[in-house]
Amino acid sequence: MTKITWFGHATIGVETADYKLLIDPYFTGNPSASAAASNINADFILVSHGHGDHIGDTIDIAKRTGAKVISNYEIINWLGKQGLENLHAQHLGGGFQHPFGYLKLTLALHGSQLPDGSYGGNPCGFLLTLNDGKTIYLAQDTGLFGDMALIGEEDLDLAMIPIGDNFTMGPDDALRAVHLLQPQVVVPIHYNTFALIEQNADEWAEKVIAETTTKAVVMVPGEELNLDD
Ligand code: NI
Ligand code: MN
Repeated sequence: MTKITWFGHATIGVETADYKLLIDPYFTGNPSASAAASNINADFILVSHGHGDHIGDTIDIAKRTGAKVISNYEIINWLGKQGLENLHAQHLGGGFQHPFGYLKLTLALHGSQLPDGSYGGNPCGFLLTLNDGKTIYLAQDTGLFGDMALIGEEDLDLAMIPIGDNFTMGPDDALRAVHLLQPQVVVPIHYNTFALIEQNADEWAEKVIAETTTKAVVMVPGEELNLDD
């Protein structure tokens, strides 16, 4: 059984078999956060890029829990300099068999500067093939790109994609992304956290349901989604 929690913004929990994954853990200072960083447990933390609303509370949570942090080479190097030791670097297009399943870093059209101005390498998304066979694409921050069609060849059980516009895909491009990805279920993320990215997710979900065979699920921060349902 795999359970997904959307904590708000692009912060996602994936509980699968004996492992808890935490993606882009932005709790402190996040107006939409549904939990406090100090209450979150994780075995693995995945960081998509260096921006503050994604690297977020990574250092504090990793230090407290001992979670292994997985990100691109540049961010892993930087986290090492901040005193973290349990680290795993990958890079775009590369996959690795972790205890929870196979994780590949995917293309993302975005930036990645770290909070202190350091170079954060290329931003990424995550393609997870979990040990229970579920395939999940977490786009995180990205613009629309045509190679989402390649990710769509992976028979996705779930895709979580941004609809906020301004920094990432907006609703229209996110709808085009659903056509390319063809997931069983799509969940919109990275919207309504700040005024700049306010969107009507229900309206967007209605369009997805009308135009595609994908089931669109609008979650509220803190809500859970059981993939075996
Ligand atoms: Ni960003
Ligand atoms: Mn962001």
